[in-house]
Amino acid sequence: MKILMISAEVFPFAKTGGLADAVAALAKALSEKGNDVKIVMPRYYKIDRKTVSLLKKGVCVCTGQQEVAVDFYCARLEKSAVEVYFVDYEKCFGREGLYGNSFEPDYHDNPFRFSLLARAAFSLCTETGWIPDIMHSHDWSSCMVPVLLKQCMRTENSPFKNTKSVLTIHNMGYQGRYPSGAFSLLGLPQEQFRAAGFEQYGCINFLKAGITCSDILTTVSPTYADEVKTQAGGFGLDGLIRVRADSFFGILNGADSADWNPASDSFLPANYSAENMAGKKICRRKLQQEFGLPADDEVPVIGMVSRLAEQKGIAEVFAPMYGCMYRMCTELRAQFVVVGSGERWCEDEIKVLAGKLPNLRAFVGYSEEKSRLVESGCDFFLMPSKYEPCGLNQIYSMLYGTLPIVRRTGGLADTVEQYDEQTGCGTGFTFGDLTPDTIFYTVQYAVDTFYRRREHYEKMQQQGMKKTFSWNDAAEKYLEVYKKAGV
Ligand code: ADP
Ligand code: GLC
Repeated sequence: MKILMISAEVFPFAKTGGLADAVAALAKALSEKGNDVKIVMPRYYKIDRKTVSLLKKGVCVCTGQQEVAVDFYCARLEKSAVEVYFVDYEKCFGREGLYGNSFEPDYHDNPFRFSLLARAAFSLCTETGWIPDIMHSHDWSSCMVPVLLKQCMRTENSPFKNTKSVLTIHNMGYQGRYPSGAFSLLGLPQEQFRAAGFEQYGCINFLKAGITCSDILTTVSPTYADEVKTQAGGFGLDGLIRVRADSFFGILNGADSADWNPASDSFLPANYSAENMAGKKICRRKLQQEFGLPADDEVPVIGMVSRLAEQKGIAEVFAPMYGCMYRMCTELRAQFVVVGSGERWCEDEIKVLAGKLPNLRAFVGYSEEKSRLVESGCDFFLMPSKYEPCGLNQIYSMLYGTLPIVRRTGGLADTVEQYDEQTGCGTGFTFGDLTPDTIFYTVQYAVDTFYRRREHYEKMQQQGMKKTFSWNDAAEKYLEVYKKAGV
């Protein structure tokens, strides 16, 4: 099958969260199964032109109102046959942020930027004569693709007549909502505002259009697929998802074992495996040293790596006078390490808390290296998400022998198996209600298990490390879904 993925993020080129990891890993897994897979993404400012190769210069892309000249660059995803094509249009993508910056968190011209990405994807296909069987979009930022593909269906002799569209929803909370005035930036006939499903309460909603126009819809875990059909989880689009329930599937993400493997991870100060855990102690020491915590082999270390967004349960952990971090640090004999960036109030509060509490250390910012040090050097990983479509960090934690402490929601419920105090079975600690108290008591229970039932703690480490979260299995399911789309 010829598969074209369109995404605003692809690891290692541009990443703000798990979307980048998921798209790259899925593309690789599909390609390893013998499919012809390509990815289109923007060439952001940070992607140095010198590190990629020029494919085509000055390709004419019609925005619906005007024609612009776009350059295409390309590169290969490491250790794979997947080609990544970069849409180089300085005016739109030559910026520091992917979606915005600290002054303008959501660039006002995003409707134009991400329409251009989609239109450029079509131009690239026609220019190179490579017409995909499937155009697979990811999240709101590539939702113009199914809309344009539907237009092609109505155009006689379109080369895309037999191409099908699949949309994967990685997060229902981000929909690409803009004032209706921005619709002219999309270069579509006005009637498409309603017909393609953009219109929601008088505004533009990209995700809604994507859900309306795609042949098949998926999301990234079976439990989340159920949750988005409810009012609580659907962010206003649950009704539409229910209407499309027959074409909607939950497929659990995997973990790229070539990349996320403690036995070979080159970011770690020492490698280790389920059979030989000695290296994990070295990672732990390095973590304590790097974050300025006392070198203590006996005290449990609890880590967090997160986008600091409401979705991640940050209020319940960090909000002044409300969150449980202060209480955890003062009442539990444990060390805490946080790596994260995002909402300003939360970044500030983390710094304040770390300044007050000797057993809390934090890095506010984005660091791949530090995030891997936390995954490997900690004993527990806290992820109290309000909702979580899949979540990759809890999976990485299990593979690195770090027990996740998670709220039972979405992909967290599908991947973490609750500890059984009678048998020592399970891979982590889970809780239901999202309150500072439930987080506190679950962390307390985990710490207690570390001190008093160490054999259970070690058994769970082994159970987690031996689990497989295979992209190969996920790729099989995506191929079935592509067939359902009519390929
Ligand atoms: P989401 O995509 O909702 O942020 P996931 O758990 O699926 O959640 O994926 C998060 C990814 O982003 C992981 O690979 C995680 O390590 C990474 N990440 C998040 N915040 C940071 C940070 N501050 N520094 C480094 N990596 C981060
Ligand atoms: C989103 C979700 C996260 C998921 C990731 C990759 O960012 O928030 O739960 O793991 O996409 O699918």
